[in-house]
Amino acid sequence: MSAIPLLKIDNLHVRFPIRAGLLQRTVGEVQAVNGVSFEVNKGEAFGIVGESGCGKTTIARAILRLVNATEGEISYNGENITAFDRHQLTPFRRKVQAIFQDPFSSLNPRKTTKDIIGEPLRVHKLAQGAGIEQRINELLELCELPARFAELYPHEMSGGQRQRVGIARALAMEPEMIVCDEAVSALDVSIQAQIINLLERLRKELGLTYVFIGHDLSVVRHLCNRVAVMYLGRIMEIADAEPLFKEPCHPYTRALLDAVPNPDPAVEAGREVEPLQGEVPNPSNPPPGCVFHTRCPVAVDQCRHSVPRLQNTAHNQAAACWLAQPSVNSSSLNKEYVNV
Ligand SMILES: Nc1ncnc2c1ncn2[C@@H]1O[C@H](COP(=O)(O)OP(=O)(O)O)[C@@H](O)[C@H]1O
Ligand SMILES: [Mg+2]
Repeated sequence: MSAIPLLKIDNLHVRFPIRAGLLQRTVGEVQAVNGVSFEVNKGEAFGIVGESGCGKTTIARAILRLVNATEGEISYNGENITAFDRHQLTPFRRKVQAIFQDPFSSLNPRKTTKDIIGEPLRVHKLAQGAGIEQRINELLELCELPARFAELYPHEMSGGQRQRVGIARALAMEPEMIVCDEAVSALDVSIQAQIINLLERLRKELGLTYVFIGHDLSVVRHLCNRVAVMYLGRIMEIADAEPLFKEPCHPYTRALLDAVPNPDPAVEAGREVEPLQGEVPNPSNPPPGCVFHTRCPVAVDQCRHSVPRLQNTAHNQAAACWLAQPSVNSSSLNKEYVNV
């Protein structure tokens, strides 16, 4: 493992102005991402989970430089990408590719698979002449699509097949990292599993690094080795996948896990699930103290006025909760997380 993480996000804030009236004056702001920090090493799959509106896509867009950080730094391979000019962004945008939820909207309906995958090869001169067709066939094979798919249009394929074309197109750029934003969320469960297995195989074979955003915890658990749980723009808990799912420290993580149905109907029938009460607060007017306190089943007075910082609860596991037990072994405090 190299000393520098491939991706390092340090105290990222993204705020969007809210404008109103004829003159479009700024009347407030949405705090979409509020002091998020994490690191992703080469070859890792880092998961981000949380309910809709908690800032996951905004983080993805900030990594891809599709939205600017209001505060904080994002570095890639040790270089601060938030300061990149257009000249520096070109090679960066090749190395970091994205796959989104709906490949239908990102694939040109008037182009065949061959043209869709061939375009980045031509534009970036990654293959020439007969090499283009050869590379297209290689990429189709890599994504487990039969060669005849080269001639098909997006509407002639199923959702899973279109997502494979989206992956093949991303791979055409020979990326190091792929940001997958709800990449399998729209697919049927059985198809999701196939795409997840494909992503997992590609990670191992090509040494890829993923930032994988999803709301289905079982999918994230399967693919990711480290996971951040977000709520209202903040990381509530961050840990290696196994301890996070086995021994969640944050009440919000526990609530999310409780909401996952048990695959065994007999167990599920006897399971008592206490759904989270209330709605996610408005990110333009977040509650004081711990942002989760308005829905937290165990909140105490302190939670209503003081913001808990992320602190280690175990080795490589940190939670932003006043009630989470801090790690007693100080040697495991290998990193201080700040989330205020
Ligand atoms: N371009 C934008 N302008 C204003 N508000 C935005 C914009 N993009 C996202 N938001 C707001 O930021 C918050 C986080 O959104 P998003 O990152 O899409 O969440 P998620 O992907 O977790 O559902 C939401 O309240 C959303 O409405
Ligand atoms: Mg989203």
